Amino acid sequence: MLKDCPASKLYLIGFMGSGKSTVGKRVASLLQWPFLDLDDLIVEREGMEIERIFALKGETYFRDVESQVLKGLSQKKAVVATGGGIVERRENVDYLKSTGFVVFLRMSFDLFLKRLESLKEGRPLLAQDIEDVRKRFELRQPLYESACHCVVDVDGKDVETVAEEVLNCFSQRRRLG
Ligand code: S3P
Repeated sequence: MLKDCPASKLYLIGFMGSGKSTVGKRVASLLQWPFLDLDDLIVEREGMEIERIFALKGETYFRDVESQVLKGLSQKKAVVATGGGIVERRENVDYLKSTGFVVFLRMSFDLFLKRLESLKEGRPLLAQDIEDVRKRFELRQPLYESACHCVVDVDGKDVETVAEEVLNCFSQRRRLG
């Protein structure tokens, strides 16, 4: 099992607002591993906020940087919160799967709508018409599902419960390996 899942990194994937950063921080503290947030690393590298990168340079440029930052992570062990669009490029998915254990935090669109207002700041894609956001959400679900080693549903659960489920999933796989 470990052959196709080198468990040196634990990647969290999922749509905006699914809790990747919040849960990731909790999981990292339970594992006593470093926590990395890909969006923060992009902002640091580019010296500007994500909204500004999208506005000045466009989404394709952002995706290029996102792939480069992902592949440039130097830490051996880390819990990594990815951006919601990481699965839009096949090369990223191949990289995730070959360098770590990938957990999909699955959220319903209803829950996303409940969280939407608090998510808008700093997320340029959420300035779009809600129907376009819904299409993007739906298009990505099969991408997240095929990119992950394990799915954790987040609806109705608090951060602690989701973090425990992520860890259970991860440690079972490690034992099987
Ligand atoms: C994006 C998600 C964001 C950020 C950027 C694009 C996306 O990250 O990378 O705004 O395409 O879904 P979060 O999922 O951490 O909000």
